[in-house]
This record gives sequence, C-alpha cells and structure tokens, in this order.
Amino acid sequence: MTNVIVIGTQWGDEGKGKIVDWLSEKADLVVRFQGGHNAGHTLVIDGNVFKLSLLPSGIVRNNTVVLIGNGVVVDPFHLIREIKQLEEKNIKISPENLIISDAAFLILPIHQLVDEIREKNYGSKKIGTTGRGIGPAYEDKIGRRGLRICDFVNKDDFESKIKKLYDFHNIWLSAMSESKQNYEDVIDKLWSLGQKIIPFTRPSWLILDEYKNESSNILFEGAQGTFLDIDHGTYPFVTSSNTVSSQAGIGSGAGPTLMNYTLGITKAYTTRVGSGPFPSEDHGENGIKLGKQGHEFGTVTGRQRRCGWFDTVLVKQAVALSSINGIAFTKLDVLDGFKQIKICVGYTLDGKTINYLPSSTLEQEKIKPIYEVM
Ligand code: IMP
Repeated sequence: MTNVIVIGTQWGDEGKGKIVDWLSEKADLVVRFQGGHNAGHTLVIDGNVFKLSLLPSGIVRNNTVVLIGNGVVVDPFHLIREIKQLEEKNIKISPENLIISDAAFLILPIHQLVDEIREKNYGSKKIGTTGRGIGPAYEDKIGRRGLRICDFVNKDDFESKIKKLYDFHNIWLSAMSESKQNYEDVIDKLWSLGQKIIPFTRPSWLILDEYKNESSNILFEGAQGTFLDIDHGTYPFVTSSNTVSSQAGIGSGAGPTLMNYTLGITKAYTTRVGSGPFPSEDHGENGIKLGKQGHEFGTVTGRQRRCGWFDTVLVKQAVALSSINGIAFTKLDVLDGFKQIKICVGYTLDGKTINYLPSSTLEQEKIKPIYEVM
C-alpha cells in the first residue's frame, strides 16, 4: 500500500496536474482535500486537453475512483458544469467513479458576489483572488453558518439555513451600499442541482476507511501551493484553506499514519498569480521571457502570472512545512534559452542574512534575495 500526497511547494502552478495524472494511473482512489474551483489543472491525454478545476485529476482515467473530500468547497453550479464538459468529451461520470463528501461546504452565488465586491473595494490593496467565492465560503464554514452538501436532504431546513446566511451577508452588502440579495432567487435552482449531486455523496472518511487495505493506492491531490496556505503562506495574500500536506488527512477524514509519502512539486523557476510578496520576482526582460517560454497564464482566470527565479529558501521551507519526502522538478526546459540563470540561496533583511521567509508582510516585502548566478 502506498498512499501519496502531492502538494505544490511554491505559489501554485508548479505543474501538479501533470504529475498527479501520471500517478493517478497507478492509483485506486484520487482525493481532493482542500480548495475549490479556484484550482486549475490542465491534462493532455492522447492529444485531448482536459481543464479541471474541481474534479480530482483521476476522473479522466478508466478504473480510477475520485473523491472530493470534506475540506473542499463546492460550487454546485460549477460542479454540474464541469461534469457536463467532461461528459461531452466522452468521459463517463457516475457515482461509481465520483464520490463527493456529504460534509463538504457549499459555495453559493452570494459568496462569489461578496468576493468580487471586496476585491473591488480593496482597490490597489486587493488580494487578486480568482473571484470564485472561495474566501467567503470558508469564512462561513468557520463562522458556523455555512451550508453543506448534506443540507440538500431537507428543503425546509435548507431554506431556513440559506435565509440566515443571506440575512447575514445582506447586512454587510447594504452597509457597502450594494444591492441586497434575495435567497428566493436562487433556492429553486440550487435545490434542483442539489438533487443531482446527492446520488454522488457519501461520508469521505468512510470511503478512505474502505480503501484502507493492503492493495489500495490512494493519491491525495493538493491544489494551490505552500505559500498560499492560510497559516503558513504569505498572509493575507493567500487562499483561504490549508495547502500543506497535513491538510490531506483533515480535509478527507483520515489520520496522518494513512499517508506514506509526500511528494512536493517544484518548478525550476517561480511564479505567482495575484498580489503579495515575491522576493525573487524579475520585473525585467527575464521575467517576461520566463512567462512567454513557460506559457505562464492562469488556467482558471487566464491572468498573466508574475515570474521570477528559483528560490531555494522558499522550497526548503516548504519541504519542512510538509515533511516532504521527494520532489518532482518541473519545467526545467523553460530555462533552455537562457545564457545565465539566477538561483536565490538566501535573503538579506536590514543588512542581516536570513535563511527563511519571515512571517511579517512588511519584512517579506523588505527582504532582498541573494543570488547565485549560473
Ligand atoms: P482565492 O483562492 O480565489 O481566494 O485567491 C487567493 C489567492 O490565491 C490569489 O492570489 C489567487 O491568485 C491565488 N490562487 C488561488 N488558486 C490558485 C491556483 O490554483 N494557482 C495559483 N494561484 C491560486
């Protein structure tokens, strides 16, 4: 039995999709354990391009069962759309190969709206979110007012919960001089989507327990990257979930002894989408060249990624944070056209050398990379 966690060691977009797809051929079960449809995985199989945001990568492989764990936030509109898109490409999706945790929280239309309005109001200080409602949905989870997939079993109960949630958000929306939202505009559509989703649902921990036998290989597919982690990343310029390896157990319903190996995915240079500190960013010609040669545009939003040099300080920190056993190094060929490349081997902060990324945003913005030129 080998149960492997795959996570990104930078700010996401390290090429996890490709490695996860390669590993999922050998996996019996592929599990997503955090994030939502803010993730973007591009898979190319026999010339067919599949773009996945929410469904675990193994879905396009025959004989692989995929599980959306309780730690994922699920937008029912998006879920049904993504299933439909894959079915149009002749991928068969049924409760036999797709299982969704009944305890996963829902992203509702109001979450997306709140996400967009907040970003608009932050102006130049915006986080640069994917605008998918991820943050507001996780806030409601922690605030103990969120709705879960298992709430699709009783319409009266669902209605009373969604009403409370909309009432809560409407206070802020009216304070911001935005239009109040009416839950009655969305409830019927949501309910009918929920009825389509219910046949796919089961407790995620129970599935893991069933697969926990000697012949099963379970692959835990991380989304985003270590420095977008809500606790360990470049807060507040992060996503709203934990992206480090420990989340694999929490977000699916198993303890750490189920996992045997953590594989970190590391790109030969560094990219980041959205705002926030990026010590080895290259604002000049080299950054542009890395972006062009590496096709660095977001899968979900199409945004151009910020590009810079390989930062060993960050990757070492990621190795420690997730107790990484091994690294898959990606996109090395993108560096082929460069006569010289730089590698960040340390930082200076107020004239002192440091070998880690400090927690304070002010210090993260102040540090200067120390490069080795090769
Ligand atoms: P959110 O996850 O949409 O709230 O966005 C928060 C931050 O995480 C923003 O900087 C996004 O660009 C970034 N982010 C979210 N998902 C991904 C991803 O899959 N790859 C890279 N960056 C991401």
